[in-house]
Formats: sequence, C-alpha cells, structure tokens
Amino acid sequence: MEKLVIEGNHQLKGEVQISGAKNAVLPVMAAALLAAGETKINRVPDLRDTRTMAKLLGVLGVQIQFTSNKMQIDATTIDRPIAPYDLVNKMRASFYVLGPLVARFGKAIVSLPGGCAWGPRPVDYHLKGLEKLGAKIELEGGDIIAKSKKLIGNNIRFDFPSVGATGNIIMAAVLARGETKITNAAKEPEIVQLCEFLVSMGAKIDGIGTTEITIEGVDELFPQEVSVIPDRIEAGTFLIAGAALGKITLKNTIPEHLSAVIEKIIEVGAEVVIDKNDITVKRAKKINAIDVTTAVYPGFATDLQAQWIALMSVATGSSIVTDTIYNDRFSHVPELNRLGANITVEGNSAIVRGVKEIIGAKVRSTDIRASASLIIAGLMAKGVTEVNHIHHIDRGYEKIENKFAQLGAKIKRISLDD
Ligand code: UD1
Repeated sequence: MEKLVIEGNHQLKGEVQISGAKNAVLPVMAAALLAAGETKINRVPDLRDTRTMAKLLGVLGVQIQFTSNKMQIDATTIDRPIAPYDLVNKMRASFYVLGPLVARFGKAIVSLPGGCAWGPRPVDYHLKGLEKLGAKIELEGGDIIAKSKKLIGNNIRFDFPSVGATGNIIMAAVLARGETKITNAAKEPEIVQLCEFLVSMGAKIDGIGTTEITIEGVDELFPQEVSVIPDRIEAGTFLIAGAALGKITLKNTIPEHLSAVIEKIIEVGAEVVIDKNDITVKRAKKINAIDVTTAVYPGFATDLQAQWIALMSVATGSSIVTDTIYNDRFSHVPELNRLGANITVEGNSAIVRGVKEIIGAKVRSTDIRASASLIIAGLMAKGVTEVNHIHHIDRGYEKIENKFAQLGAKIKRISLDD
C-alpha cells in the first residue's frame, strides 16, 4: 500500500511533459491483435493499465516487449483467445480485445466487466453491435463467449456515442465481409487515433472524427508503427492545477483537444497562452465560480469533472458541476469535504459552495480521476494532506508525483510497508 503526502499551499512553476494518452494506447494495443507480425507503438505511457493490457495480450499468447515508453507487439500467434476475470476485473478496457479476437480468430471468451466505483457500466452496446455483425454471443459463468465464422457488415446505431463500443465494433468490422455503418459513433480523439492507425494497417474507414463511420471490410491487415497522441486528460489535470497554483507550461500537447477545458479556465480567471504544441497557464488571482456540464467530445470531459470540482471548492461563489456521462461519479466529494470543502450532491450534479481555504487531512482515493482531484486539492490546501489508496492514480497517470515535484510541489510517495 502506498500513499502520497502533500504539503500544500506552494506555488507551481516550470514545465511539464505530457505523456501519451492511456485511452488511446489501450485500443491501439488491442488493434495490434488484428494483424500477424510486429506492431510498434511509441510514446506508450508506463501505467498500471498499459501493463495490465500487456499482460492480457501475453496471456492470449502474443509476444510483447515494453521498455522506455516503446512497445512491440507480435500477434502472429494467439494460443488462447481468453481474457480472464482477474485482468478484466482490474481494467474494463480489457474488453477491447473482444472485437479484434472475434474478427481475426472467430472466437473470444472475455470475462464480463462488473460495475465500478461510479456505478454500473454496461457493455450492452458492444454485444448488440457484435451480434448485428453476425456473432453468436452467450454468457457462461460470468464470461462472454462470442463466436462467428466470418463477421458480416451491417448498420449499427448506438443509443449513446459510447467510446468503448465504437472502438470495439470498428475493430470487429475492419475484417468483416462488406460494409458496416455506425451511426451515433463516438468521435473522441482516441477513437480518431484508433481509426487512423487501422487505416495505416490497410483498413478502409470513412467518416473518421464524425458521428457516422463507414467501414468497408478487408481480408487482411498489416502491422504498423504508431505514436500515441498526448493525453488530454493528464494535460487537463495540469491546466486545472495551474489555474489555481502558478505558472506552468505543458509541453507536447494538442491544444485543440483541450478547447473545452481551456475555455473554462479562462472564465475562471487564469491566463492561457498557446504556442504551437505548448500551453502555458498562469493562475487566476481570484478564482471565479464557473459551472460545468460534462459532455461527449468536444465537450468538457467527464474524466476532468473531479478535478474541476476540486478547483471550484476554493472559488469565490458557488458553481454547479453536472455529469451527463456518468450519473454517479462523485466519490471524491465526501473526501474533498474532509478537507473543508462545502459540496453537496443532488442527482447527477455537485453544488460547490466555494470556501476561503481548504485544510490538509487524510483522504482516500477511489478511482483514477478522483485521485487526481484529491492531489490538486492537497496542493491547494493549507497544511499536510495524505492521499491514501493511491494505487488508483498509477492506472492512469505516469509518475504524477514526480511531475508535480518538478514544478515545485512538496509531494512524496510513501510506501506503507516500509
Ligand atoms: C471511456 C474512457 C473513460 C471515459 C469514458 C467517457 C477508455 C479506456 N475509457 O470509457 O475514461 O470516462 O469513455 O468519456 O477510453 N454505455 C452503455 N452501454 C454500453 C457502453 C456504454 O450504457 O455498452 C454507457 C455508459 O454507462 C456511460 C456512457 O455509455 O454512461 C459512456 O460510456 P463509454 O463512452 O462507453 O465509456 P468507456 O468506453 O467505458
């Protein structure tokens, strides 16, 4: 067990390198299953989730190497198309292997992901989509068993533009016979990267980056080399911290991916200067209370909702933060209140009444983004904050305490086994 100990109320200053995006690399790793031969992925963030995915690919029988943010995946042979419970349970994105396995091998057994810290997260769109492509789906002993001789293209409409279902179905459809049209598809930058990677492998995909994607199946795909896009959620986390705490330059970002959060931190009163791929944020003298409603891309990301609430907890005035993607993603709220924040949850909204200051305390993180929000709060709080159960943060942020320490934060990791 580890915890982060933060002495708050220090200004941040300097530069921070943004890592490759977790949510982009995971589907790209799954897409490597679609081709025999060696896929090379650069700028792979060294995270618990990328290691879990690597382990899963290894369990399937794939050869995999991962050093210094570079990964090689050789999926020439797959021995066992089975994603076991203990890995899927650790990371829902393991479900991404379902589409590629059925498409290339005609069979997959993938444990059904359960709920998570912010409520039920079903996979019905993934399964209905695969059935539309002709797969036979059964549930046995908590496992999804999907089988198909050859998938056949079809028209699929999602009730909601799910990121995971869009990625999974695209990966299934690229090797299907004929045309698949996905309506109400997700157009997140991570899905765009997946599509572009698949096109580089020989896939035929139209409408990339729109809500209507058309895929013309091909017989075979070929391995390629790809560099992962910068993580817009990690970047957004540093932008939000900078809006309260100093002058930070984020290096190697794609500013266009961050327009919703940049717009909001300017309303808060922070200064933002964009210079090609770098973004400098200078803290607001007075933090204005600004409402946020999460939405699909290009809207304000649900993965930045918790961090936004942390910032709003010390704003002048009250704000309402509404999550339209996940109705129940507020486990950070009681922890922020332990620091003296004044936040109540009503339905899928948090009502944040800004307080003059928050004071360090012991808190506990419950998921990746909740951890990030507690770190930001700890950095803003007077005194010492201990963030416990910090293993969650390592799922999605590469060495976050080192990055904040380089900016002048007083933050260190303590192993409780010491
Ligand atoms: C991805 C991201 C996650 C982010 C989320 C929303 C990855 C690895 N994870 O998760 O960080 O918070 O997008 O931007 O990329 N839904 C269903 N049935 C389904 C699938 C989804 O009802 O079969 C619902 C979900 O419960 C949720 C909404 O659709 O309310 C969006 O979920 P989705 O876009 O699928 O999120 P993930 O792909 O799981």
